[in-house]
Amino acid sequence: MADVQLTQVRKSFGDVDVIRGVDLSIQHGEFVVFVGPSGCGKSTLLRAISGLEDITSGELRIGGEVMNHVDPSKRGIAMVFQSYALYPHMTVRENMGFALKHAGVPKVEVQAKVDSAAKILGLEPLMDRKPKALSGGQRQRVAIGRAIVRDPQVFLFDEPLSNLDAELRVHMRIEIARLHRELGSTIIYVTHDQVEAMTLADKIVVLRAGVVEQVGSPLELYDNPANTFVAGFIGSPRMNFFEGKVTGHAAEGGVNRCQVALTGFDKLSISLPLQGSMPTVGTEVSVGVRPEHFNDSGDAQLPVVIDMLEHLGGETFAYARSSGGVMVVIETKDGRSLRTGQALDGRFEASKALLFDKSGARIYCND
Ligand SMILES: Nc1ncnc2c1ncn2[C@@H]1O[C@H](COP(=O)(O)OP(=O)(O)O)[C@@H](O)[C@H]1O
Ligand SMILES: [Mg+2]
Repeated sequence: MADVQLTQVRKSFGDVDVIRGVDLSIQHGEFVVFVGPSGCGKSTLLRAISGLEDITSGELRIGGEVMNHVDPSKRGIAMVFQSYALYPHMTVRENMGFALKHAGVPKVEVQAKVDSAAKILGLEPLMDRKPKALSGGQRQRVAIGRAIVRDPQVFLFDEPLSNLDAELRVHMRIEIARLHRELGSTIIYVTHDQVEAMTLADKIVVLRAGVVEQVGSPLELYDNPANTFVAGFIGSPRMNFFEGKVTGHAAEGGVNRCQVALTGFDKLSISLPLQGSMPTVGTEVSVGVRPEHFNDSGDAQLPVVIDMLEHLGGETFAYARSSGGVMVVIETKDGRSLRTGQALDGRFEASKALLFDKSGARIYCND
């Protein structure tokens, strides 16, 4: 079984601490995605798991065995990079079989493994071509095939789709998801693209500056982000954050509500349902509202004027502004009649709004 276990893993380059104490538990067969902004340490963490980088401290186990000092070739992993790194002078077949041949695996066995991987990836008609005669997507598939033939316990992918155009990226994303279902192996996948993370992952690990901010399923992170960083990173367009101050509490029909006066909206106070402990009056908070949670039947409102419209066909994004100049992004399915300069009620469902404290940590409503 190929569980991957990280305990207080740290990685420094000289005196620069890049990975700053990561604890992570990955189950056999899980599809785990590391996501975060560029430079947050995703590749470094993946390379530390692969053995391409030593870890500075902490412990790494794969399949229960401590791997800290085990050679990359003996960790039971295979890595697929953004740059496909195919050998230009070799055919697809030779590229895919190279590592096995190099390791002294008998020719018939190499052939069988390469054929089987080619079948899974639909590469059979291309086996005698050289990389230069392949499209970007086909090259990426060969790079994946080269990993499959090694029959690894764990696949490591580092932004494998970043060099592909948008359409091909969607196509390859579906292929990688299918591959995971077919192979049932553990996959650790790095991307800075939250859509890729949301669509592929069983479990997303959100990283910021070498620290894990939150781990959870895509919808757990979307519905219940632990802080403004995760809330802002997951979901597109980004969640709106409104600064404000708690002005009072009220009980209405058995529901406790917290009143928040928002900065930049004329004398506007919104009322959010909360259970459990209320933030005290005067607490500075930030209210998070996703663009898609605005709709005409909402019980709270944020009056705005439309600055700009983006009509995508199926939905419209309205970029609007409050009287005090606060930007609000509103998503609507029904935006064809909207006009720039138009005033909107900005109705949203108060029960879906999230509350955060000044440091960005979530104020939970149901403790
Ligand atoms: N070999 C290295 N030497 C020094 N600093 C490095 C090295 N590799 C990565 N870094 C630094 O570590 C940080 C994280 O890099 P990386 O893991 O590549 O980020 P990501 O993949 O999330 O974009 C960056 O600031 C980068 O400059
Ligand atoms: Mg990277």
